[in-house]
Amino acid sequence: MNDKGLPPVITIDGPSGTGKGTIAQLLANELHWHILDSGALYRIVGIAAMHNRVDANDAQALCGLARNMHVEFSSVFPGSITLHGLEISGEVRLEQAGALASRIAAIPQLRAALLQRQHDFRQAPGLVADGRDMGTVVFPDAVCKFFLTASAETRAQRRYKQLKDKEVSVSLPGLLSDIQARDERDSTRAVSPLKPAKDALIIDTGPLAIEQVMAIVRQELKSHQL
Ligand code: C5P
Repeated sequence: MNDKGLPPVITIDGPSGTGKGTIAQLLANELHWHILDSGALYRIVGIAAMHNRVDANDAQALCGLARNMHVEFSSVFPGSITLHGLEISGEVRLEQAGALASRIAAIPQLRAALLQRQHDFRQAPGLVADGRDMGTVVFPDAVCKFFLTASAETRAQRRYKQLKDKEVSVSLPGLLSDIQARDERDSTRAVSPLKPAKDALIIDTGPLAIEQVMAIVRQELKSHQL
């Protein structure tokens, strides 16, 4: 617990395709801590909007959905996600859900509406939180902060391979331009733009294997007595 009696948080921020989700999951498993995939929350609001035919520009209606949606994440990876009892984990991971999430995530009122839900994940013995603004806005008092980067080309290649392995047909140039558009939107928005917290350790995961990233993370945690 920290000096305010709150469980400790480790934040892992960065653009998509840097390995954030994998590192967050490995770390949460290793520490036996809870995990927050905050990107999934934005994706789920987008999906709820599609299911309810809510316009992606209608801030008030999106906030209503965000406040009232009943979401459950299973604790086993890669777990199921249910929205009002309906299994949506496949839909959550689609490229279209990511693109819609990135559009609606620029709406300040929606970010505010999701704040408490994110804070509720902070439970003993600790939380590993993955996203864009975990270290800067949602958990500025996190005990240890990481910001993962990699070039857009590397991230597009990784995503391409993942989708090919799942036999999903995609074009590499198309993926690259989607990633670049998403980076641009996420980094230039007025509220909670994608940027490293001042006290975050920045790791370029481009040339590194997951285990090498984990080794750096573990070293950093040790220096924070974690
Ligand atoms: O991480 P993921 O790709 O699932 O996130 C989907 C989108 O949700 C991102 O492109 C970003 O616009 C938004 N997001 C955000 N803040 C977070 C997590 C995700 O704005 N903490």
